[in-house]
Amino acid sequence: MIIAKPLPYNRDELEHNLSAAHFDYHYDKHYLGYVNKLNALVKGTIYCDMSLTDIVVNSYRENDHLVYNNASQVWNHDFYWQSIGKTQVCPDELVTLLNRDFGNISNFAQKFIQAGVTLFGSGWIWLVQDQESKKLSILQTKNADNPLVLGKIPLLTLDVWEHAYYIDYKNDRLHYLNQLVTDNLNWLFATNNLG
Ligand code: FE2
Repeated sequence: MIIAKPLPYNRDELEHNLSAAHFDYHYDKHYLGYVNKLNALVKGTIYCDMSLTDIVVNSYRENDHLVYNNASQVWNHDFYWQSIGKTQVCPDELVTLLNRDFGNISNFAQKFIQAGVTLFGSGWIWLVQDQESKKLSILQTKNADNPLVLGKIPLLTLDVWEHAYYIDYKNDRLHYLNQLVTDNLNWLFATNNLG
């Protein structure tokens, strides 16, 4: 059984950019909805005793779309809750890699926001690291798709499904991305995810 992960902050702590009302819908309705649906789908199947990551990888391999989509949405949201937080300084180790692969941190931020704005429909934007070359890059994934099945190490993500920003920003995805990229990226989490 997959257990929902608690938010790593109180739901009013990011109030200047994401309201408690946003989490009331995004966490309680959307996220817990995916968790409940996944648990109902995997009950009594080969997936029932697997870790969440194993369910994502194996259901993708088996073309078991319904299980994969729900498992991946749970995984992506678990990762998203941790990818954002209170404003913090980017550790030197990650600054060095961002400078190497994007020129500087500001270029990365601009490209990351642009990736979110240009993603057509629902999906996710990711800062990822290549498993072989260790190079950092930005990835867009559609719907529930997840970098784990594409040979990439996820470092950070932002949710660009409309439900992630509609309550606080209405249809203004750019404003949502600008605010979170400026104030709320959890650089320490990203650094800890480096391969
Ligand atoms: Fe979401």
